[in-house]
Amino acid sequence: MKKHQIGLVGYGGMGHWHAELLRDFDRIGLKGVYDIDPMKLEWAVSDGYVAYNSFDEMLADEEIDVILVATPNDFHKDYVVRALEGGKNAISEKPVACSSKEVEEMIAAANRTGKLFTVHQNRRWDEDYRTMKDIYDRKILGDVFCIQSRVHGSRGIPGDWRGKKEHGGGMMLDWGVHIIDQMLQMIPEKVKKVYCMEQHVTNYEVDDGFILYLTFESGLVAQLEVGTSNFINLPRWYMQGENGTAMMNSFYCDGTIVNITNWDKKDAVPVKTAAGLTKTMAPRTDETIKSSEIVKVPADIHDYYENICDVIEGKAEQIVKHHEVLRVMRLMEAAHESAESCQVVDFE
Ligand SMILES: NC(=O)c1ccc[n+]([C@@H]2O[C@H](COP(=O)([O-])OP(=O)(O)OC[C@H]3O[C@@H](n4cnc5c(N)ncnc54)[C@H](O)[C@@H]3O)[C@@H](O)[C@H]2O)c1
Repeated sequence: MKKHQIGLVGYGGMGHWHAELLRDFDRIGLKGVYDIDPMKLEWAVSDGYVAYNSFDEMLADEEIDVILVATPNDFHKDYVVRALEGGKNAISEKPVACSSKEVEEMIAAANRTGKLFTVHQNRRWDEDYRTMKDIYDRKILGDVFCIQSRVHGSRGIPGDWRGKKEHGGGMMLDWGVHIIDQMLQMIPEKVKKVYCMEQHVTNYEVDDGFILYLTFESGLVAQLEVGTSNFINLPRWYMQGENGTAMMNSFYCDGTIVNITNWDKKDAVPVKTAAGLTKTMAPRTDETIKSSEIVKVPADIHDYYENICDVIEGKAEQIVKHHEVLRVMRLMEAAHESAESCQVVDFE
């Protein structure tokens, strides 16, 4: 089987990340780059890649069978549709596009041409997510009723195209797309209700953070949060089940699980506060709980590109599917509608 060759559109931060990763594979590699910025084309040449003077020139290169789009978000749809119509397979960076209407056009082009179209939802391979999903799947906390997933930073919204509406900016599209995708992969249920509050601390044009509540069919509630004005971070994950709680502090899987071992022992010693006392909030004694460290579940992002090769060669189904990316985009639209109207929005 010949090596698959990628043509990359957009040699910025993420373009460089892909170039670095693609050095590791025998089955697939980066052949060349197209970027509207001539300086980026010079960099591509000095990094050993072919520089194309136009997207059409890249499409005309018969050796290239995959186009990877890593431009600002508002250009994803056009490049993907042109790539598919030009007989190439297409990978879009996340967020797949700026609206569900655009995603529908992309999917229609893929169906029309029979070519692979998928999205780089790379955070499905993040170990913090894999580990929490494992805790959920193995029912380590019993039936889970609440999950918090968040990413907090304190640098405000980046000062580039991410702050501009016309380029598909905003933290919902930038980071929300990752943590929503993870949550929908983790919980195999319909989302019935959506409620969202968007924040505008450092930018008024687009959201620079949000708090989003999803109520799933079973009643499980997910609280998803992206913040860029958080000078003290809350935990990356907090999961509550009927038999225990898991908390993970950061992307690095550092955290604890506490399971209840004896519900019946009720001898709480009241806690006295300055102005009263409480038994309800008294801490548990050691003989009624068991604490354990979270055990990391490894994951390897290389599997993403292995899957791309397998799909092109007809050996596997694509991992990141059309209906999944469309669902996440529709959910982000429902969240925005909720934030605008201050109302709960029915979803599925
Ligand atoms: N999956 C992830 O973890 C992840 C992380 C960061 C960024 N991204 C995504 O990658 C994409 C690019 O983000 P970035 O951080 O690399 O941005 P960036 O600004 O660093 O790079 C964008 C590049 O695209 C080029 N460009 C702009 N308009 C173009 C056009 N019309 N045609 C061709 N080239 C054009 C720019 O010159 C620049 O080199 C975005 O969609 C972003 O959401 C994904």
